[in-house]
Amino acid sequence: MLHARSYEQPFDGDLQLDIFQEVRRLWPGILLFNGGVYTPEKAKEVLAATKADGLGIARGAWGKPWLFSQIKQYLTTGTYDSPTWEAIKQVMLRHAQLALAHKNDYGLIELRKHLGWYTKGRPNASDLRAKLVRVSALDELTAILANA
Ligand SMILES: Cc1cc2nc3c(=O)[nH]c(=O)nc-3n(C[C@H](O)[C@H](O)[C@H](O)COP(=O)(O)O)c2cc1C
Repeated sequence: MLHARSYEQPFDGDLQLDIFQEVRRLWPGILLFNGGVYTPEKAKEVLAATKADGLGIARGAWGKPWLFSQIKQYLTTGTYDSPTWEAIKQVMLRHAQLALAHKNDYGLIELRKHLGWYTKGRPNASDLRAKLVRVSALDELTAILANA
């Protein structure tokens, strides 16, 4: 997996597709493109431009773990579905359950930033985020989301 950016531009700046294309020419094995893939449209664009075998996605999946299935759907059908707020809330609860199961209470502390990312673009998201960044129990999260 190759992140198509220079050392000087670790996380931002233009993607350097030419460097990736050069590696593609030199390396016949499996090669994954990484960097700046936040949408299904971008995924399709870089796959076409680089002939990569697949993608590595980091920040694009923050608060959007369904991005992977959206990309798959977009590449096969040319369109993709976005989850409803009700579905997103179910994902948030499932994420919280898994965080608790794997890391106990510390998992919920770590989860707080993810809960904020899940609300991106929601109306009145800042009010909701103010509550989510203080969550310390699953029951509490369930109650907040029931009214959100
Ligand atoms: C929170 C965070 C942790 C990361 N940890 C690692 C790491 O341990 N090793 C690594 O090679 N890259 C790491 N990266 C870099 C990513 O793998 C990736 O190359 C970079 O974020 C660019 O991809 P993106 O635009 O999809 O985020 C990390 C990135 C982030 C945001």
